[in-house]
Amino acid sequence: MKTVKSFAKMKQNKEKIVMMTAYDYPSAVLCEEAVIDMILVGDSLGMVVLGYDTTIPVTVEDMIHHTKAVRRGAARTFIVTDMPYMSYHGSLDRTLENARRIMQESGASAVKLEGGSSVADTVFRLTKAGVPVCGHLGLTPQSVGVEGGYKVHGKLKGEAEELLADAIALQEAGAFAIVLECVPRQLAQIASETLSIPVIGIGAGAEADGQVLVFHDTVGYGNHHVPKFVKTYGNASAVISEALKSYRDEVKNGQFPGIEQSFTMNEEEIPSLYG
Ligand code: KIV
Ligand code: NA
Repeated sequence: MKTVKSFAKMKQNKEKIVMMTAYDYPSAVLCEEAVIDMILVGDSLGMVVLGYDTTIPVTVEDMIHHTKAVRRGAARTFIVTDMPYMSYHGSLDRTLENARRIMQESGASAVKLEGGSSVADTVFRLTKAGVPVCGHLGLTPQSVGVEGGYKVHGKLKGEAEELLADAIALQEAGAFAIVLECVPRQLAQIASETLSIPVIGIGAGAEADGQVLVFHDTVGYGNHHVPKFVKTYGNASAVISEALKSYRDEVKNGQFPGIEQSFTMNEEEIPSLYG
């Protein structure tokens, strides 16, 4: 299995890191088969698999439940699990307990949490406790209520400088990588060049050390909003929808099940059954 060292080496060797989200057993199996470098069990599962409008309602319990399934499907892949809304902002004890549960009960390899300097001490304590931590800067969906919506972050110099300072603070606190979401590509490039740890972009241009996308957006599955920075590589919804409609039609017109899908008993057994 890859480790935090593998990702550092990939950055040194300029080999792009490919991260993909997964939320259940079959998506994890497919990610591992596709040789995805790192799986993210993102709290985006709130939207794409649970049907919430935001990531706010997602709980530690939800993250553990889904990570367990992902681990069963991808036994040999490095798995990062999001710490959900408000699960790392209370007392240090509570933060450590939530991280412990995610690591021990679900089989995650690392956790990810949103924020910069304000969570640097938390990142330091978790790392010192033996929990690998991935940072997340730029658009941070858990703060959407405070921000008042989703937007590109770091377009202006002041905002960009603040983001770089946050990135450095996370690196110094011990983060092994940082996800940069929805920032101008020039800023992601500078961050990648400035930091020694890998920068994994989403909506952050091609210069980042790696890329991450949401599984459902990538394969075209679901009816949630898909942001501009997504590229959709398949149309899973159409494939599934076609299958469901064919099933419905075949049941209605008696085509399914056919003789191939049915079990048979010997003819001589039958007459007595009619009484
Ligand atoms: O929850 C998620 O899927 C994420 C990625 C978009 C980075 O945090
Ligand atoms: Na997330």
